[in-house]
Amino acid sequence: MKIMAGNSNLPLARAIASYLELPLTDASVRRFADEEVFVEIHENVRGEDVFVVQSTSFPTNDNLMELLICIDALRRASAKRITAVVPYFGYARQDRKSGSRTPISAKLVANLMTQAGADRVLAVDLHAGQIQGFFDIPTDNLYAAPVMAADIQARYGDQSLMVVSPDVGGVVRARALAKRLDNAPLAIVDKRRDKPGQSEVMNIIGDVKGRACILIDDIIDSGGTLCNAAEALMASGAASVTAYLTHGVLSGAAVARVSNSALKELVITDTIMATEATKESDRIRVLTIAPLIGEAIRRIADESSVSSLFD
Ligand code: R5P
Repeated sequence: MKIMAGNSNLPLARAIASYLELPLTDASVRRFADEEVFVEIHENVRGEDVFVVQSTSFPTNDNLMELLICIDALRRASAKRITAVVPYFGYARQDRKSGSRTPISAKLVANLMTQAGADRVLAVDLHAGQIQGFFDIPTDNLYAAPVMAADIQARYGDQSLMVVSPDVGGVVRARALAKRLDNAPLAIVDKRRDKPGQSEVMNIIGDVKGRACILIDDIIDSGGTLCNAAEALMASGAASVTAYLTHGVLSGAAVARVSNSALKELVITDTIMATEATKESDRIRVLTIAPLIGEAIRRIADESSVSSLFD
């Protein structure tokens, strides 16, 4: 088995390799003067089971292209099996036609990975589980929930917890986390805009008074969804609001927005490499999911069960 890395999240790739007690494959993934990506693998990979770790996070298109070119280089170097390990799958939110004459970019990205030569895909908390169906190759979707649940039990386990979904679409995810927290009660933030042009009204479904609320979602991007939900929960009498998110996209002024929000703490995982602003924020904490991904890779290589990781 070999672990190769693109440049999008080297700390995570190194942590995964260290969990597996393997060195990273000796390769250079670099740019020509005109910014074209060039990949050169400096060791023999013929007949190897190779896992390429690359999140397609910002800059999304560059990181995606690096992944595709790494896969192409491995295929042409006769690797036996190539698994694209994509902890954060960019473009996942474009998983359906959002209007007439719009693309389904998540499907296009799946096609690109497959055409480049990936034999399998390993992702974490895909925005929508059905994205697995965009691939006609085996796709494992790992869940960060066990890592989050352990952290919540350790830090907030003695409090009166309430798991909250920031929108109706996230209820399944929230329910799965609540189940891991000894069936903690569930609340939902229901966003309504009665008429076009009117501002959105937040209704809280569930009694959050006096509760330590745990907001759960897959992605924080601008921070709008979470910060608004946190404000609405505090206004409804919550004792505190902490947010657990798998993918800290945190674009633009998101870190500042979180720092000025009603959130007590934002906890993200390291599927996306933390920026300096994220590292410096005393409101944001990062949990590593390297052991989870490392263990899944070990099991794929050994052909043992991955799903039992979540039992
Ligand atoms: C939406 O369906 C996602 O689950 C997130 O709620 C959304 O992408 C977060 O975006 P933002 O932080 O910009 O509100």
